[in-house]
Amino acid sequence: MEWFEEARTLLEERVKGAAVALGRIDDSWKKVGDSIALPVSGWCDKRKREFLAGRAAAGEALARLGMEQPGLPARAEDGRPLWPPGITGSISHSRQYCAAVAAYSRDFAAIGIDIEEGGRVDRAIAERLFTVQELDFLERGAAKLPLPVARTVIFSAKESAYKAVYGLRGGKGVSALTAFEVALGQGGGLAVRLTGADASVQGCFYVSNCSTVVTCAWVWKP
Ligand SMILES: CC(C)(COP(=O)(O)OP(=O)(O)OC[C@H]1O[C@@H](n2cnc3c(N)ncnc32)[C@H](O)[C@@H]1OP(=O)(O)O)[C@@H](O)C(=O)NCCC(=O)NCCS
Repeated sequence: MEWFEEARTLLEERVKGAAVALGRIDDSWKKVGDSIALPVSGWCDKRKREFLAGRAAAGEALARLGMEQPGLPARAEDGRPLWPPGITGSISHSRQYCAAVAAYSRDFAAIGIDIEEGGRVDRAIAERLFTVQELDFLERGAAKLPLPVARTVIFSAKESAYKAVYGLRGGKGVSALTAFEVALGQGGGLAVRLTGADASVQGCFYVSNCSTVVTCAWVWKP
């Protein structure tokens, strides 16, 4: 059995009120196939498939949220997905997998998701993008995860938080991943501190048996 089902269940338990969808790009892109127009001409097949698979996951997340025949998110000029009114959400893809999360805006001010396959985040990337506290946390083995996995969780949480906060601030005021500081908690929870923050970012993570990492980061509606 694929790991998606367990991942979805655990993530939905940790992000109460949000709906999560996960799948393989090779299977998922065919579900929307030619039914939506590509926003950019000239994409290679790989990019087309990951875009379509992300939209398929978005449609599944919206359906899990209880929306009947939801329209799939369009794409803004800056690349972020445009969700139906009253909904916030996020899309991600890795080499093999696609992921989406959707939630009601009455509950969530913003939410982001990110999926990363293991081993992508090496020491050099960590030293460039992680804060001194994050590097120290990893050095001490405090994450209680294999080092490459712990690095990937921190990196992925920053990407999720970036996506959530970017939407929240209408694309303004997020400099880079170095602006986010991630603290891993027990039981798949995490917290993200944003330099100069005007909102508290919550998060959670899941690690599959093949070391694929999925993170969500969100800001509750005040
Ligand atoms: C935008 C960004 C978060 C995308 O993340 P990624 O890991 O490259 O790619 P993912 O597959 O996880 O996510 C891609 C999806 O994010 C969404 N997205 C794109 N731009 C976005 C934005 N500004 N805000 C929210 N979501 C965005 C889109 O849905 C996109 O998929 P699509 O084009 O098929 O619709 C990333 O490219 C980025 O800019 N990161 C912050 C900047 C930085 O410091 N990067 C250093 C990396 S070493």
